[in-house]
Amino acid sequence: MLPEDVASELDRVLLTEAEIKDRLRVIARQIEADYAGRDLLLIAVLKGAVMVMADLARELQRSVEVDFMAVSSYGASTHSSGVVRIVKDLDIDLAGRNVLIVEDIIDSGLTLDWLKSNLLSRNPASLEICALLRKPDAAKVDIDAKYVGFEIPNEFVVGYGLDYAERYRNLRSIAVLAPHVYS
Ligand code: IMP
Ligand code: MG
Repeated sequence: MLPEDVASELDRVLLTEAEIKDRLRVIARQIEADYAGRDLLLIAVLKGAVMVMADLARELQRSVEVDFMAVSSYGASTHSSGVVRIVKDLDIDLAGRNVLIVEDIIDSGLTLDWLKSNLLSRNPASLEICALLRKPDAAKVDIDAKYVGFEIPNEFVVGYGLDYAERYRNLRSIAVLAPHVYS
């Protein structure tokens, strides 16, 4: 779906499909260099990170393994509760593996803070984070992400996997939602 398909529900487009693709290509080259000669396991957090995972994994010019985990910290709300629950756990054992968490967005950082300590307890050889978006002004905990696509203002965004009440995930761009949609 394109921004014009839901124009009245969006305030403005923040990042176009082409801008996202270009940035992921640059990040993919960095990941290839950083993990040269080492195995790599990408872990995406469902559902928001599906588009980043699909595009980043295909951009990589090497073989990787992928696995998915679902955690929940949001209802149909626009603010993080900080309460995280595993909805679907990983299939792959992380012991001795080089793990890269692929995330859609670091907002408060509470979800990734929890996820990072959960995954570290499974003894991976290394654990890093790749997040497409980060809202620096929303941070409640400091998350050390090795790869960040874009820093964005502290506004609620949708598209490219990100939802509001499960909608707009299939929008090709990333856009600021019009306040009338959630107020
Ligand atoms: P946290 O606040 O960093 O814990 O973010 C938790 C999750 O909330 C993210 O992984 C997203 O799925 C979701 N989220 C945070 N900010 C936004 C947003 O602006 N739009 C849509 N989802 C968001
Ligand atoms: Mg998410």
